[in-house]
Amino acid sequence: MSDNKFDVVVIGSGPGGYVCAIRCAQLGMKVAIVEKYSTLGGTCLNVGCIPSKAWLDSSERFYELAHLDEHGIGVTKPKLDVKKMSERVAGVVKDITGGVDYLMSKNKITVFHGMGSFVDKNTVKVSGEKEETLKADKVVIATGSKPASIPGIEIDKERVITSTEALTLTECPKHMIVIGGGVIGLEMGSVFLRLGAKVSVVEYADDILATMDKDCSKEMKKVFKKQGMEFHLGHGVTDVSVKGKKVTVKAKSKKDESELTLEGDYCLMAVGRKPFTDNLGLDAVGVKLDDRGRVETDKHLKTNVDGIYAIGDVVKGAMLAHKAEEEGVYLAELMAGQKPHINYNLVPGVVYTWPEVASVGETEQELKAKKTPYKSGKFPFKASGRAKASSESSGFVKVLAHKETDEILGVHMVGPRAADLIAEAVTAMEFRASAEDIGRICHPHPTYSEAFKEASLVATDKRGLNI
Ligand code: FAD
Ligand code: NAI
Repeated sequence: MSDNKFDVVVIGSGPGGYVCAIRCAQLGMKVAIVEKYSTLGGTCLNVGCIPSKAWLDSSERFYELAHLDEHGIGVTKPKLDVKKMSERVAGVVKDITGGVDYLMSKNKITVFHGMGSFVDKNTVKVSGEKEETLKADKVVIATGSKPASIPGIEIDKERVITSTEALTLTECPKHMIVIGGGVIGLEMGSVFLRLGAKVSVVEYADDILATMDKDCSKEMKKVFKKQGMEFHLGHGVTDVSVKGKKVTVKAKSKKDESELTLEGDYCLMAVGRKPFTDNLGLDAVGVKLDDRGRVETDKHLKTNVDGIYAIGDVVKGAMLAHKAEEEGVYLAELMAGQKPHINYNLVPGVVYTWPEVASVGETEQELKAKKTPYKSGKFPFKASGRAKASSESSGFVKVLAHKETDEILGVHMVGPRAADLIAEAVTAMEFRASAEDIGRICHPHPTYSEAFKEASLVATDKRGLNI
């Protein structure tokens, strides 16, 4: 095999691409990965999951310091150094992307930096500092996604920004207008709200987190309002203009067409993400896209061209790092002749605000729409001893189980550490547990995890023990 001939070439080094490359290498394949940026790790590690969680963590600490009165702790006004906070985030990103470099060399994966594009189905050209031509039996498209915008609205990256720019701000906005009450809008909105900004969210749908279980959206709206976030729901943005440091956002109410005008110093565009296939040369090989610009694949992640596969944000499904990772492993094992499996129904979703929101399986609205007979059990955190001890009174765990079989069909929660608690629900559902199974499993006391047991007990029609 010549130096540039590989069993597999992966284009894109996000959690889909780099995880796929590692699993391929572990399974004995000769692998190359191509990344257009100078650092590996994709959106998730560079401008997504990791830096946003680093900001969320720092801002949470700052906010908490200023709210310790009821614990009997008086703190003189904490000093905020947003530039330093931003530098810490950059440091976290540098460390974690460096970790991916290490994993590539440990697994003997050849890394090429430059834009990858198809010449033919077995040839990928890398246009970087120097041009390389790679030959491969199989090519994996893992090119991810980029922020979407509203037609006609220019993102100048200075005052009208996406999450990418928001993650490197070195000052706290005075008034941040967030377009989109989805995950990015609420996570990044929370960061700057906690640091002292006024945050106004303009959302087209009638609710925030519109695709989650309605009880979660309702609870979070209440919590955010209490934290001081302002909402303009049911409003479609029509115009965004910038004059010096001032941004003006205009929106129209869906209900009565009345016009809303907001003025701030930053506008964060958070209206979703779109698959990224620019300059990939898909036309050269005839890879089909679907009506939403995603690379079309069958259920085995194969495109219409033999030997070309696609995973992660660039294909259909949730745009989540762990979904991309699962697909990366799935595909590597499939290409090695194994018979892997992904249960897409059990890909959990988490919003890392405070409290956190976490969800797996079907929502109550989906069960109703499908006419699935179900029962519901809910346990509020205000009744949990552990939550009381830490003065966490918002949120709940809600368990939806099949009415006849008692199998858990969905778990939705708002509350402290919900992001971690949801893993138990995913495990339970993967093993097709009934609500009674969970209700009968010993959970440590006092922990937040007891709320899942209690909600399961309620769902089994048994009375919860703590209410
Ligand atoms: P990406 O991570 O987008 O990686 C694709 C890579 O391909 C990029 O590095 C890109 O430069 C490269 N590339 C593209 N085209 C080419 C080409 N032609 N040649 C060479 N390289 C190319 N998900 C979660 O699960 N949890 C979270 O907490 C979370 N937080 C997020 C916060 C923010 C602010 C954002 C924006 C996203 C967040 N996500 C989160 C989503 C998550 O980042 C994505 O789902 C995930 O990164 C998708 O992985 P991927 O490998 O498919 O693509
Ligand atoms: P999103 O799809 O979560 O939310 C976008 C929101 O914008 C929707 O509620 C939509 O109704 C609204 N919107 C669209 N057009 C509008 C308009 N013209 N006016 C007003 N509102 C409008 O997308 P978001 O927040 O940009 O995130 C993109 C993706 O990134 C998510 O789908 C998610 O998969 C991923 N992500 C995941 C995170 C996590 O797992 N914690 C964190 C951040 C991002």
